[in-house]
Amino acid sequence: MSKQTVTITDNRTGKSIEYPIHEGIHGPSVIHSQNLYKDLGMFVYDPAFMTTASCTSKITFIDGDKGILLYRGYPIEQLAEHSSYLEVCYLLINGELPRQQQTIDFTNNINHHTMLHEGLLDFYKGFRHDAHPMSMLVGVVGALSSYYPDQIQDIKNPEHRYDAAIRLLAKMPTIAANIHKYIIGQPYIYPRNNLGYVDNFMNMMFSVPKEDYKFSETAKKALEIILILHADHEQNASTSTVRLAGSSQAHPFSCVAAGIATLWGPAHGGANEAVIKMLEQIGDIKNIPQYIKKFKDKNDPTRLMGFGHRVYKNHDPRATIIRNICHKLLKELDTTQQPLFEVAMELERIALEDDYFIERKLYPNVDFYSGMIFKALGIPLNMFTVMFAVARTVGWISQWMEMMEEPAVKIGRPRQLYTGSAQRDYVSIDNR
Ligand code: CMC
Repeated sequence: MSKQTVTITDNRTGKSIEYPIHEGIHGPSVIHSQNLYKDLGMFVYDPAFMTTASCTSKITFIDGDKGILLYRGYPIEQLAEHSSYLEVCYLLINGELPRQQQTIDFTNNINHHTMLHEGLLDFYKGFRHDAHPMSMLVGVVGALSSYYPDQIQDIKNPEHRYDAAIRLLAKMPTIAANIHKYIIGQPYIYPRNNLGYVDNFMNMMFSVPKEDYKFSETAKKALEIILILHADHEQNASTSTVRLAGSSQAHPFSCVAAGIATLWGPAHGGANEAVIKMLEQIGDIKNIPQYIKKFKDKNDPTRLMGFGHRVYKNHDPRATIIRNICHKLLKELDTTQQPLFEVAMELERIALEDDYFIERKLYPNVDFYSGMIFKALGIPLNMFTVMFAVARTVGWISQWMEMMEEPAVKIGRPRQLYTGSAQRDYVSIDNR
């Protein structure tokens, strides 16, 4: 037991219990109070998990006050500048940056698992042509588990877990691109092993038979950076969902499907789509003041999308990185997007000077800019969150693998503060 402790006293009974304090490498200490119920007969009330550390993890660290994000100890700024998405995937999964040969082997491994079982393609036909791509993604990734039934028995085997991770990482761009092609009614483009991860993804999204997709170095870099920035983010809502689903020993692909469902909402991954809709609605710089009024009005549920974060209360380091590349890309690529960017810049400036946002520590988050990059790349609005999901797959699967490595995985099971009717007797229908 650690020497540092916190004592909790129940003032009703005078009973005191000491609980150990654990220190992480970075970040706040935690009180190990798991026995509270056994000791004092009480639960901890922490709705939305504002102060709950649900697990130990060696993968990602966030300091929300200082605006720090580390993957396996490496600052996100350095990875965005020097690394590639696949290298970051290797890092998140394996814990270390790959050496030369490891890079080659990892890339080969990914390249050779990009195809989908042809039977899976039939699932797409069941969706309406106007289905939201995220609903399709949840369904298809869930269905993917049916093609690998053995995984259920083998999740205790580290090699099988690793294979599951590689398969999912390799197939996600194919699944996502096929969703886009299905919706627009074009034939699926098969993956190409001779292309890099980002090139192959964009080629499957946008090429047509016998006509490869080409995009500029800036566009490619922008997408690579977006994928890196979204790769993992500690115990956020979707990742916690994946861990919770995984704690029941469920199939890894179905756990990730549950994570995708959680990502969909506008308070999480759906924000990038919501930001563009909001900017288009504002339309012109002159309309900003009236919208700012709406965002601040307690009786109006409209929020300034792309602003605020549960953890970052100073700045989102991902937003700083993406803001620069967004500006560069828009200048180079698509001048028609420039007015949207100008509205965004002015909105950002006004909000950052407004007491309401200052007092509540609301700053632009990564989604404030990522949507503009996706739009400039020609990715349809309803595919934005799918792009986020492709990037986050590595985070979900790394966190799932880390959890499964624990000697005994306990099923996650929060408790509650019951506020319903007290126990009462059944009343027959005539007497109600
Ligand atoms: N616009 C206006 N007011 C806001 C906003 C906003 N975007 N965000 C928070 N507030 C206010 C909120 O009304 C509350 O005010 P008061 O204290 O007067 O009641 C206060 O700020 C605290 O808000 P909260 O909802 O308790 O904060 P939270 O930590 O639970 O929520 C959030 C974080 C991201 C859900 C929220 O800031 C939000 O809805 N932002 C807009 C959606 C968005 O951009 N989401 C993407 C998050 S980043 C991507 C990711 O990591 O998934």
